Amino acid sequence: MRAPFLCAYPLLLSALASVHALPAARSDSGPITPLTSSQIDAFEPYTWYASTGHCNSSATLTWDCGADCDANPSFKPVASGGDGDATQYWFVGYDPVLDTVIVSHQGTDTHKILPVLTDADILLVELDSDLFPGISSEIKVSQGFRGAQEKVATDVLAAVWTTIDRYGTSQVTMVGHSLGAAISLLDAVYLPLHIFDASFTFIGYGLPRVGNQEFADYVDAASLSVAHINNKEDPVPILPGMFLGYVHPSGEVHIEDSGEWANCPGQDNPSTQCIVGDVPKIWDGDGSDHVGPYGGVEMGC
Ligand SMILES: *[C@@H]1O[C@H](CO)[C@@H](O)[C@H](O)[C@H]1NC(C)=O
Repeated sequence: MRAPFLCAYPLLLSALASVHALPAARSDSGPITPLTSSQIDAFEPYTWYASTGHCNSSATLTWDCGADCDANPSFKPVASGGDGDATQYWFVGYDPVLDTVIVSHQGTDTHKILPVLTDADILLVELDSDLFPGISSEIKVSQGFRGAQEKVATDVLAAVWTTIDRYGTSQVTMVGHSLGAAISLLDAVYLPLHIFDASFTFIGYGLPRVGNQEFADYVDAASLSVAHINNKEDPVPILPGMFLGYVHPSGEVHIEDSGEWANCPGQDNPSTQCIVGDVPKIWDGDGSDHVGPYGGVEMGC
């Protein structure tokens, strides 16, 4: 899986090659601590929901998509959409065990996500002020991710409202893998601007960088629980590069080669136990790590 993207993006590689210094940690970072096995296990249903985001919209609406759907058998689907082509699949529904709305967006495999992260769509742009009322114009995000989230934003919002009404929950959890994680992170900024009496959680897998320093600071300051889990030497989470102005919010969890899951505090923690230190350059990465496994789960439908 590595060769195609390494050959295809000479511009990016030469730009990366010109960067020598590792970034400093940008916010308070305490010690790196391992997750306990029960903390790791607690992610599993969400990991399956992120994987299920890869399934088509008719399969998720009837919750008949094989192993992905069977892993969360009590899920109540409410709405789904997308075409898996111009528009990523998505689904929204209710998990009665976890008592939360689930929002999931379709991810991509490695050779599809890398072009998105390395072409003109990495331009940093403002968020739409109608969809994101009151958001600062200093907050900038990837043009490509913005476009992908905008296409379905109001449909997702309507489905979340319906789910909250129907099941009486006040928790909303947004998940996704890869591009799907990037879209869900934008949902994690978008939905709380329209839904005021819920608590929000974001759990992403193989999340690429989505926005600038102001975006990352906004996410860190929001009343939002954030975890983004990076697997081993996956190159996707180190893209787009920090030298382009991109910054991850806090909340990284890094699955190390040993199998240990490390809590990596701060934004873009430079430790070799975390993705920035472990994969300093794209050629230090292994594209096959992008799909997982995250715990026991390989991403895909
Ligand atoms: C959608 O996914 C289901 C189950 O994974 C499959 O059986 C079905 O053929 C798919 N439908 C389309 C339109 O791709």
